[in-house]
Amino acid sequence: MGTADRQIGFIGGGNMGQAIMRGLIQAGHSPRLLSVADPDRTCRAELRNLHAELFISPDNLAVAEKADALVLAVKPQMIRTVAEETAELECPPDQMIVSIAAGTTIGSLHAWLGSEVPVVRLMPNQPALIGAGISVLTPSATVTEPQRELADYIANSIGTAIWLDDESLIDAATAVSGSGPAYFYLLMELIENSALEFGFSKDVASKLTVGTALGAARIADSVGPDLADLRRRVTSPGGTTAAALKVLEDAEIRDIFRRALEAARDRSAELGKSGSGND
Ligand SMILES: NC(=O)c1ccc[n+]([C@@H]2O[C@H](COP(=O)([O-])OP(=O)(O)OC[C@H]3O[C@@H](n4cnc5c(N)ncnc54)[C@H](OP(=O)(O)O)[C@@H]3O)[C@@H](O)[C@H]2O)c1
Repeated sequence: MGTADRQIGFIGGGNMGQAIMRGLIQAGHSPRLLSVADPDRTCRAELRNLHAELFISPDNLAVAEKADALVLAVKPQMIRTVAEETAELECPPDQMIVSIAAGTTIGSLHAWLGSEVPVVRLMPNQPALIGAGISVLTPSATVTEPQRELADYIANSIGTAIWLDDESLIDAATAVSGSGPAYFYLLMELIENSALEFGFSKDVASKLTVGTALGAARIADSVGPDLADLRRRVTSPGGTTAAALKVLEDAEIRDIFRRALEAARDRSAELGKSGSGND
């Protein structure tokens, strides 16, 4: 049986659960092979809009009992309860659990689910909500090759997926890609504020800012990995860009970003140790 024939269940049908289901349907996965449990009536009504053939239930067992991969898509503060409840359910013996809860380690998941349960920790980021995410994944030792392929297929449905065989790197990825969208939003917010101060309307300020960010990201994506070279290409000596970058360099922007990302990485590790992950 290939990945496209697998039953994929979701415990929690909120933002990220819906995004993954939408991605899988768009990737061609049959909605009849997707099922989701959520206690919230409004959420279940929203899920109905995703596809008429989705199996939607308030009952976790109805979903868990048939899933080859069971995605735990609840908030980190609910993950322990849900994992402990799942351990009590009659699930297929070779079921893989995929957890997207930020900050929840494979060790914690094994303590709640049982140490032999194949577990993949998947950390998407916010652009996954529109299929443009970058996710990292890490497997427990009990994950088989076909299960790894299935987790890869799930993660690729919401963007690009990168496997990390060393789980400790998830904290670093959290600092880079998990929290990353917020750094770019802040930067865009600050650029837009200056545009407003220069006298542009909100609409024009926003278009100039977001259009520039989008264009720069697309060039970076298409040209290749040398970002410093791209920066140099727009920075003529003695020109306008050089004047702006000098202000940023003098304010030690490089050190500020280094410290910011270290703070995010360390906080992720701390939350993982306390078992109370948070975005
Ligand atoms: N959103 C993001 O950008 C993002 C990025 C990376 C990772 N994540 C991770 O994705 C996970 C889900 O986040 P989200 O934004 O999708 O949260 P969300 O929108 O709150 O969705 C979670 C859903 O799970 C339901 N739920 C709660 N307890 C449940 C239970 N016992 N059984 C079944 N369903 C239950 C919730 O219902 P109620 O509302 O009734 O509680 C809610 O509908 C989090 O762990 C987060 O760390 C999210």
